[in-house]
Amino acid sequence: MPRSGGPTGGTQADVGSGGVDHPALLPDARTSLEAARTVAAGCTACDLFARATQTVFGEGPGHAPLFLLGEQPGDREDVEGHPFVGPAGELLGRALDDAGVRREEAFVSNVVKHFKWKPQGKRRLHERPNAAEIRACRPWLDLELDLVRPEVLVLLGATASAAVLGPAFRLTSGRGSVIEPDGVGPARVATFHPSAVLRARDAEARSTMYASLVADLVTAAARAAPGLPGPGPSAVARRSGSAR
Ligand code: URA
Repeated sequence: MPRSGGPTGGTQADVGSGGVDHPALLPDARTSLEAARTVAAGCTACDLFARATQTVFGEGPGHAPLFLLGEQPGDREDVEGHPFVGPAGELLGRALDDAGVRREEAFVSNVVKHFKWKPQGKRRLHERPNAAEIRACRPWLDLELDLVRPEVLVLLGATASAAVLGPAFRLTSGRGSVIEPDGVGPARVATFHPSAVLRARDAEARSTMYASLVADLVTAAARAAPGLPGPGPSAVARRSGSAR
């Protein structure tokens, strides 16, 4: 079972409740990330598996100090089976680069591990996961966090922030500061979701949001591994430019 207080280091709001028969609680799933990934591939804890191509489990080094958490895989991620490989992932990669963080050194995952979508013509339109779907997937996130044991959990966007910090958390006022754990678990830093940056109403808003995302990643990285070099001069110069 998730520990009391949860590996996210929070309170009741973020304690998962996938039920005792959840596949993430099977001893076989709990020995390593690879074992967890294998069991998660067959997860049917909510209905989303039925319309998704595959489970998109978290990826990255086994003991990454930085854990980046998005909402759910998108269309590309669903097809390719890896988190953040579509347009949002491309922007996230640039932001990490500008923050002086190598993406390969971070663990990247999502609150929900199946793509939720509705058809629109030939396209598959992203749909927000609901509370039951988030709850059903929670034991996988708790297991990832138990196995990786990151220093900092970066919450990308409102869904990840609400799932971990509770529904009262507001990204607009709460983003960018380090929320230290009350007990076990990583520190947390909430920031904009890369998709929200891409959807910003105009170039100026996009540039401002992008700079905030990069600054928040710098904050998270400094807390995760204080000795690391951080953004170089070219990255800082790029950061004050546009989101491209
Ligand atoms: N958006 C997310 O939240 N996660 C992904 O993996 C891709 C897009």
